[in-house]
Amino acid sequence: MSLKDQLIKDRLPKHVAVIMDGNGRWAKKRGNSRVFGHKNGVKAVREVTEAAAELGIGYLTLYAFSTENWSRPKAEVEALMALLVSTISSETKTLMKNNVRLNTIGCRDALPKAVLAKLESCIEETSSNSGLTLTLALSYSSQWEIIEAVKTISTKVKDGSLLVEDITSENFGAYLSTSGMPDPELMIRTSGEHRISNFLLWQLAYAEFYFTEILWPDFRKEDFYQALMDYQGRERRFGKTGDQVKA
Ligand code: FPP
Repeated sequence: MSLKDQLIKDRLPKHVAVIMDGNGRWAKKRGNSRVFGHKNGVKAVREVTEAAAELGIGYLTLYAFSTENWSRPKAEVEALMALLVSTISSETKTLMKNNVRLNTIGCRDALPKAVLAKLESCIEETSSNSGLTLTLALSYSSQWEIIEAVKTISTKVKDGSLLVEDITSENFGAYLSTSGMPDPELMIRTSGEHRISNFLLWQLAYAEFYFTEILWPDFRKEDFYQALMDYQGRERRFGKTGDQVKA
């Protein structure tokens, strides 16, 4: 039986988050530039998106560009932005075909106008799709997002529209850019790094983490299924004991 067929369909995570890492090392191993690695990473983005859509997973969030990534060499940043524009242009048709809705989180104002315009038109075009929601984290960092939420909350408290005692761990998520989405139940990071790198710090509180040595441009559907198999073999306790969970 194939890995895909072995997955228990009603125990798939509703939301999978991915830190796509290792593009630079993949390219270096081939004596090529880092940008070559990013270009080859697009194939893995396509594979994982298609696999998630086919399985009926509701949400896939990809860490495509962090706030900290702005400090990379100018040529690499420009190449990544150009890659985003060309990928969105060429993939919109496939997103439509697969019933995928595009979404972004992060500081949109920091993005170049051409990227923003392309994103907004794809978001608009795919907005009625009802299958997978594909969220690209762009110019995103979790600490930035949490501070933005705290500022909104403080303003509301100051103008009297929110009471301090009404701020709870249940409603705080509504102030984050992932508002309306379930929290990720699985976070995958490629390339052998075991870090969270300022990604969805609040939302990953109870997520299962899956780390693989595979470099992002080599990541394929089978590797995604492998991560899901591993997830399905885990016992999620949410602070309870194993016996309590079984009962
Ligand atoms: C991390 O690898 C990867 C990135 C910062 C960019 C990810 C971008 C893509 C996969 C391509 C475009 C994406 C979309 C959604 C169209 P790294 O450069 O940090 O690799 P390294 O750790 O080996 O240096």
